[in-house]
Amino acid sequence: MFEPQEFVDEKIAELRSTIIGNAIIACSGGVDSTAAAVLVSRAIGERLLTVYVDTGMMREGETETVRSMLSRLGVNFKVVDASGEFFSALRDVIDPEKKRKIIGERFIRVFEREAREFKAEFLVQGTIAPDWIESGDNVRDMIKSHHNVGGLPSDIKLKLVEPMRDLYKDEVRKLARHLGVEVSERQPFPGPALAIRIIGPVTPESVDIVRKAGSIVEEELERAAKNKKMELPWQYFAVLLPVQSVGVQGDNRVYGKTIAIRAVQSIDGMSAAYSKIPHEVLEIISVRITNEMKKNVNRVVYDITNKPPATIEWE
Ligand code: XMP
Repeated sequence: MFEPQEFVDEKIAELRSTIIGNAIIACSGGVDSTAAAVLVSRAIGERLLTVYVDTGMMREGETETVRSMLSRLGVNFKVVDASGEFFSALRDVIDPEKKRKIIGERFIRVFEREAREFKAEFLVQGTIAPDWIESGDNVRDMIKSHHNVGGLPSDIKLKLVEPMRDLYKDEVRKLARHLGVEVSERQPFPGPALAIRIIGPVTPESVDIVRKAGSIVEEELERAAKNKKMELPWQYFAVLLPVQSVGVQGDNRVYGKTIAIRAVQSIDGMSAAYSKIPHEVLEIISVRITNEMKKNVNRVVYDITNKPPATIEWE
């Protein structure tokens, strides 16, 4: 049986003797990296800097939520607004793999800069057992280059500290609760964030569109699930397509953009079935998107593809 208090006591003693000097951790606001940040900060206090990189491509309200959580938890943290450099690095890039690589590299650049400035010698990561067990599997072809906000390369010149390496997800959740971290039951969210939900170039405008549409999808599906009209999907979001089509608004012809709704049931994301959302719920979403986003979107479609053959994210 996993006893969080025992684990914390043991780790704090161990961390105090291994971390001599300053340490840094990248925190995405997710359970793993936040729990690791709180645990290590209990051990070495201000000598740990927790960095949250705002890429400008986060979901609605995300940065504010993380900021208030980190300040409540009393860790020494910094929110780095790097949106400008992310948008310039992504200018005119439409290839999904290029987008992923650029975001990953840019993230490392920003983080390295912060580490240098803080004179960090240690890098803390919220790696948990399934992360390294799964990454040992190279039998499957690489379909997408995945990266998490914590997934930094090993050639970074810092000593790696992974205090939760042997824990499984349920143990991490127990630990997180014990440390006062809100364990959100929020759906998974990809490291490259909204950039891979925009088919085509990533600009502040396209991010705004997909962010707003995504928040409508989230709100309405969560409402429908709460009202017992359906089961909440495992993952659900909006995708902005590079397709324009003719529409009519009042007496005018419009030529607007298309939003695809993606919602799936899955256990672990490896395979997925599209969610059978009731038509009346789809209609509410479609009406809200086209009313509230009149200036940009005039068509909403629903993705009815399973994984395989499709993947969950479009890029
Ligand atoms: P796909 O699109 O490959 O996604 O069917 C499977 C699950 O993984 C998430 N995903 C990512 N998660 N970094 C992550 O941490 C990534 O680069 C990444 N790409 C996809 C996706 O949201 C889904 O839950």
